[in-house]
Amino acid sequence: MAIDVDELLINAISWAKEAGKVQLTYFRGTNLNIQAKLNESDIVTAADKESERIIISHIHSLYPSHSILSEESGEESNSGEYQWVIDPLDGTTNFSSGLPQFCVSIGLKYNGTTIMGVVFAPYLNELYTSVRGEGAYLNGEKIHVGSETDISRAVVSTGFPVDKSTNADNNLDNLSRVLPQVRGMRRMGSAAIDICSVSAGFLDAYWELNLHEWDVCAGLLIAEEAGAKVDFFREDRNVSVLVSSPAIGKIILPLLSKEPNY
Ligand code: IPD
Ligand code: CA
Ligand code: CA
Repeated sequence: MAIDVDELLINAISWAKEAGKVQLTYFRGTNLNIQAKLNESDIVTAADKESERIIISHIHSLYPSHSILSEESGEESNSGEYQWVIDPLDGTTNFSSGLPQFCVSIGLKYNGTTIMGVVFAPYLNELYTSVRGEGAYLNGEKIHVGSETDISRAVVSTGFPVDKSTNADNNLDNLSRVLPQVRGMRRMGSAAIDICSVSAGFLDAYWELNLHEWDVCAGLLIAEEAGAKVDFFREDRNVSVLVSSPAIGKIILPLLSKEPNY
């Protein structure tokens, strides 16, 4: 690897913190400028766009040869080797409603493999980080998935696709099978925070269908490095993933539909 990953990590952390600070200046304010994208369940705010501008301008000035995939501005290709995969604000619906679970997610791939991930939740002041092969950390403390083995004591989360109102393939079938078995079901509203919460043992499992690479790139490295089991449970709905502590994941995976089920 040509460049120092620890230096990349330090830079990504500082961009995530800078973007997070800007998000907090908008949070619970009146100048969000909420706009619908695909529909009213798929929105973007001025804070998403400003966060993205900040992160991308740092990449352009420090690493001009690197490629970028970022939610609001799409794909920019400069080199085949390094690609930054960015969700400048994950949890926009929470953010726009004044709920505190939202974050910045920055992953870095080298020749297609994620080598570094940063997820920063500014209101919660929680920074999740990982460099491939070096473990996963929450605010500098090493994290690991939980050790629960009994599904009746498991607390798990999920999410629902943005086309849920027009497409019956909307995760309700999976929910109806998992919900009766677990201690608690949560809908936290930020895929990156859900994945990091499994990584830290706060949740025993999380699944969602129809996610995108920017939602999961940083989080999945953190999860892998924290000992999580990662299963891509279907191939026809973008990124559809179950992230779990291994014992609970083994029980939940067979409960998830592997194809549209309606
Ligand atoms: C969304 C969040 C949400 C998940 C959606 C994502 P966004 O991302 O991660 O939890 O359920 O599928 O699109 O739009 O807030 O970046
Ligand atoms: Ca997202
Ligand atoms: Ca987003």
